[in-house]
Amino acid sequence: MPTLDINIAEHISIPVPSKVTVDLDPAKLEFGKTFSPNWFVAEYHDGFWQNARVEGLQNIALHPAAIVFHYGQSIFEGMKAYRWANGKVALFRPEENARRFARSAVRMAMPPVDPAFFVEAVKALVHTDAAWTPAEPGSLYLRPTMMGTEACIGVRASHEFLFFVLALPSGAYFKESGSGGAGSVVVYVAETSSRAAVGGTGDVKASANYAISLHTIEDGKKQGCSQVLFLDSNGKRQVEELGGMNVFFVEGNTLRTPNLHGTILPGITRDSVIQVSRDLGYAVEEVPVNIDEAAGKIAAGKITEVFACGTAAVISGIRELQFETGRKLIIGNNSVGPITQQLNARLQGIQFGRLEDTHGWMQIVD
Ligand SMILES: Cc1ncc(COP(=O)(O)O)c(C=O)c1O
Repeated sequence: MPTLDINIAEHISIPVPSKVTVDLDPAKLEFGKTFSPNWFVAEYHDGFWQNARVEGLQNIALHPAAIVFHYGQSIFEGMKAYRWANGKVALFRPEENARRFARSAVRMAMPPVDPAFFVEAVKALVHTDAAWTPAEPGSLYLRPTMMGTEACIGVRASHEFLFFVLALPSGAYFKESGSGGAGSVVVYVAETSSRAAVGGTGDVKASANYAISLHTIEDGKKQGCSQVLFLDSNGKRQVEELGGMNVFFVEGNTLRTPNLHGTILPGITRDSVIQVSRDLGYAVEEVPVNIDEAAGKIAAGKITEVFACGTAAVISGIRELQFETGRKLIIGNNSVGPITQQLNARLQGIQFGRLEDTHGWMQIVD
């Protein structure tokens, strides 16, 4: 992927770089709760994006009839900047997030942000708040978001939008995963509710996808599970993905992950794991995965590792599946497996600038 050489100051008004005022020890940062002092923001009206700027993070005032509140016209992205040992800060595959954001926008009847402008906006914020990027194993999580802001009671697309990017200094996503390594979590298998249907929005990052999964995620938490594994909506018991991550099953030297068929998110980490696995000599199959067949192979000791992957947690082992019926299934030796650890070390090694970036995934932000 070529580097985008855009002079951000020409396009976006940016303040002087900010200074850090909180403890950035990754072990002390609760994911999702600490924000850097600035945000990127632009408004869309009269057919154009206007007034693009990085400025102090602040509350927004919207009319109570804003379309986002009633009809949920909203999309977002999740991506990260990593602090390297030499002090540099680098983004991981930002154009992929930019492209997915544009696809999500089109699906949700919103004006797509030009991918180059999206990357420019993210870089402008990271440039300003670079000092807020914690050292390894922490990172600066970035949350580009777009929503329909026009005041209108009536089911139609908004004509006015807000596009903004937030930056959050972050430690480990799952507390139980520990820091740095691929920890392992217990996952709840949703057997009576699904997340996406054919023809729906499962393959884009629409906020609505997350709203409809919250109830099941809360059910899972009550059972002591940190994540939910969703199955298809047609009762075929095909594995789809977790509430915020894709999933892989390891059998011998073969990794299997559900194929992209319109109802699961094409994760950028998923794609990176596929490439890194092949680099390391593993076979990767993108195929339908039936949960009952997979459970049989786990019980028989043929599938020895299952792991989830996504931007926030990168790679996280799954040590146990808990079905809604109450059945509990321990995977492998009930902890993070060696292939999961190897892939996590390889991917994080690239992200933190320790290993050669043979795919050209990293982009240093000046
Ligand atoms: C539903 C869902 N699946 C998968 C992923 C993983 O995608 P990525 O690796 O691009 O973060 C995410 C996170 O963005 C997600 O929300």
